[in-house]
Amino acid sequence: MSRASFGLLLLLLLGFLIISSSATSDSIYENFVQCLSKYSSPFDQASSIVYAQTNSSFTNALQSYIRNQRFNAFSTPKPLIIVTPSDESQVQAAIICSRRIGIQLRIRSGGHDYDGLSYVSDVPFFILDMFNLRSVNVNITDETAWVQAGATLGELYYKIWEKSRVHGFPAGVCPTVGVGGHLSGGGYGNMLRRYGLSIDHIVDAQIVNVNGYILDRKSMGEDLFWAIRGGGGASFGVILSYKVKLVRVPEIVTVFRVEKTLAQNATDIVYQWQHITDKIDNDLFTRLLLQPITVIVVHLETINLHYLLIQML
Ligand SMILES: Cc1cc2nc3c(=O)[nH]c(=O)nc-3n(C[C@H](O)[C@H](O)[C@H](O)COP(=O)(O)OP(=O)(O)OC[C@H]3O[C@@H](n4cnc5c(N)ncnc54)[C@H](O)[C@@H]3O)c2cc1C
Ligand SMILES: *[C@@H]1O[C@H](CO)[C@@H](O)[C@H](O)[C@H]1NC(C)=O
Ligand SMILES: *[C@@H]1O[C@H](CO)[C@@H](O)[C@H](O)[C@H]1NC(C)=O
Ligand SMILES: *[C@@H]1O[C@H](CO)[C@@H](O)[C@H](O)[C@H]1NC(C)=O
Repeated sequence: MSRASFGLLLLLLLGFLIISSSATSDSIYENFVQCLSKYSSPFDQASSIVYAQTNSSFTNALQSYIRNQRFNAFSTPKPLIIVTPSDESQVQAAIICSRRIGIQLRIRSGGHDYDGLSYVSDVPFFILDMFNLRSVNVNITDETAWVQAGATLGELYYKIWEKSRVHGFPAGVCPTVGVGGHLSGGGYGNMLRRYGLSIDHIVDAQIVNVNGYILDRKSMGEDLFWAIRGGGGASFGVILSYKVKLVRVPEIVTVFRVEKTLAQNATDIVYQWQHITDKIDNDLFTRLLLQPITVIVVHLETINLHYLLIQML
């Protein structure tokens, strides 16, 4: 090892020691707020969007979007601070400050990550929590919507329904899943057979890159735009919002459940279901849930009344 690289290593080690020992959550908080006010506008709001560990609302802010209780234990590593931007410029500033101060950033939208990746880390980190950025702007004239990353799927569905009873968006079944993680990862749900995945209906996006610049589809280029539709968002930047193309749905849909226990030939139904479920009409969505011990539920949702295929039973 050369003298220069040894010196560099020492410097890095020293830097690490400073971060992990002397830099308490409090001083990180001070540094971060100071940095944020320098790089974001409106300047005077920086302290009102950062939660220090000592803040009485810290735990509540942290736990509000922990959707996997496995990662809600005392031993689960906690963020040094939680940053809750309510303005796009604050997201830009948070990325810049994360680099300047040298702590890892975890991005959280709906907090449904199965591995808790949006709010747990092995190294000192902070959470960039997107829950304040949750607007949904639906434009029925051109059948699109701009939806911010912090919105939930349920909010997106509801906002579309408010404007039109014959439009919808194909995404997940669970209404509390976040747009930020879901739309960057794929997104499948009740309209899967008819309309495919959520990412098949994304037409534009806004992302903040590692240098703090806001890019849209045009300025990020088609490769990056492709990557953030299935490759996950956090590997590439912070997704601010997606523009989605709405799909047409009938005004009335039919939903029904069939429940059978093992004593009622449930095994027979599971067997039959596997043979017909890929052949039935695409307007009929079915899912089969094997639930605690004996009950089997066949859940059918038809998105067009004319295609009720009851003969499957
Ligand atoms: C109860 C439950 C039901 C589910 N149902 C379905 C379903 O029906 N269909 C389906 O397809 N999937 C389903 N999922 C999976 C879900 O879509 C994914 O876990 C998704 O990644 C969650 O997104 P989130 O924003 O809620 O999660 P988060 O935990 O906030 O984020 C997930 C990942 O995306 C990253 N990320 C989040 N926001 C951003 C952002 N703005 N920019 C960049 N990166 C970001 C995070 O860092 C993390 O790596 C379900 C999950 C759960 C727990
Ligand atoms: C906790 O943090 C929030 C968000 O930054 C802030 O608005 C609030 O005043 C803080 N509360 C206390 C008691 O410090
Ligand atoms: C909705 O889309 C139409 C057609 O593209 C456009 O003319 C209109 O300005 C949009 N409305 C809003 C509120 O953005
Ligand atoms: C179960 O299936 C068998 C064979 O298909 C049939 O003979 C029997 O009547 C069924 N029992 C019930 C309870 O449906």
